[in-house]
Amino acid sequence: MAGSLKQTHDQRHGPPADLSIELAGIELEHPVLNGSGTFDAIAALRAFGPELADRFPFSAFVSKTITVAPRGGNPPPRLWEAPAGLINSIGLPNRGLEGFLTRDLPLLERLPVPLVVSVAGFSHEEFMRLVDESAARDAVAALELNVSCPNVKSGCVMGAEPHETLALLQRLRPLTAKPLIVKLTPNATDVGGVAEAAEAGGADALSLINTLRSVAIDPGSGRPWLGAGSGGLSGPAVRAVALEQVNTVAARTSLPVVGMGGIRSGRDALDFLAAGATVVAVGTESFRDPAAGARIRDELRELRRSTGMGRVQDIAGDARTA
Ligand SMILES: Cc1cc2nc3c(=O)[nH]c(=O)nc-3n(C[C@H](O)[C@H](O)[C@H](O)COP(=O)(O)O)c2cc1C
Repeated sequence: MAGSLKQTHDQRHGPPADLSIELAGIELEHPVLNGSGTFDAIAALRAFGPELADRFPFSAFVSKTITVAPRGGNPPPRLWEAPAGLINSIGLPNRGLEGFLTRDLPLLERLPVPLVVSVAGFSHEEFMRLVDESAARDAVAALELNVSCPNVKSGCVMGAEPHETLALLQRLRPLTAKPLIVKLTPNATDVGGVAEAAEAGGADALSLINTLRSVAIDPGSGRPWLGAGSGGLSGPAVRAVALEQVNTVAARTSLPVVGMGGIRSGRDALDFLAAGATVVAVGTESFRDPAAGARIRDELRELRRSTGMGRVQDIAGDARTA
C-alpha cells in the first residue's frame, strides 16, 4: 500500500519535543523568557491586540525594572553599538511604583503568560515597599530583584557583595510567598558567593547575567560617548562570560537559573541549558528582531527533536564543569 511507504513527520524526526518546564513553581510552556527592559509588551499589545495571545514570543514576561520614584533615565546619548554588542546607559526610566501599578499593570495583566515584575530599590526600605505592593497583586506571578543598584546607605552595590545580598533577602523574604528571582550582576568579584548568599536568604531562583560595566569613547572628542559616562555591555559579545557565570552559579547553588547574555539562536539557548540554566532569556536580540523569542523557541524545539533528546529538564547541567 502506497500509504505505508510514506513515513509520517513524527516517524522521521521523532515526536515534537515537549519544551514545557517549571520555574520556581510556575508552569511555563517553553523555556524562553525575555530579559528585563528589552521587550515592550505594552507596545506589542497595542500593535497586535488580542492576536498577541497566539504570537507572544515568551513563556513568561519580565517587566522593565521599576523603582519607587518615577525616573527619567540617564542623559543622552544612551546607546553605543560595540563589536557584536550594545552598550546602554538607559538608567531605568520608569513611571515609579504608583504609576506602574495604576497604568502599566492593568495592561500587562492581559498578557497570555505569567508576569514577573522586576524591581530595584536604592535602600532596603525601597525594596521592601516594591516587593510588598507588587506581590500583593494577583496578576503578579513572581518578582525579579534587580540588585545592580547601589545601596545609598552602605554605598555598596547590593548584588556585588554576598553580605549585602543576604541582608537584603532577609528583609524581603518574609514579605511574600511568591517566588523571588534574584538577578545577579556580572560586575561582582565572586558571583558564586553572591548566588550562595541569595540562596541562604531564601531566593527561589537566580537570573544572570545583567550587563557588564563598560565605556565607549567618542572618536571625535576622545571623551566618553554616553551621557552617563559609562554603561552596560550586552549581546553576543558577553555570551562566553555569561556561560561561565551560569556554569559557576549552577554548580554552587541548587536554585534554578534563568540564563541570559547574547542569546541569538536555539543553539545558543541550548548551550545555556547545558551549562546549567533551567530556562533562558533573550535580551538584545529582540531589538534586532522583535520575534526572536519565538524563533529561538522553535529552533530549540527542532534541535531537541533532531538530537533525539526529550524534555528540557533532561539536558540541564550537561556541561557543568565548575
Ligand atoms: C536597552 C537595555 C535595557 C535593559 N534594561 C534592564 C532593566 O530594566 N532591568 C534589568 O534587570 N536588566 C535590564 N537589561 C539587561 C538585560 O535584561 C539582560 O540582562 C542583558 O542585556 C544580557 O542579555 P542580552 O545579552 O541577551 O541582552 C537591559 C538591557 C538592555 C540592552
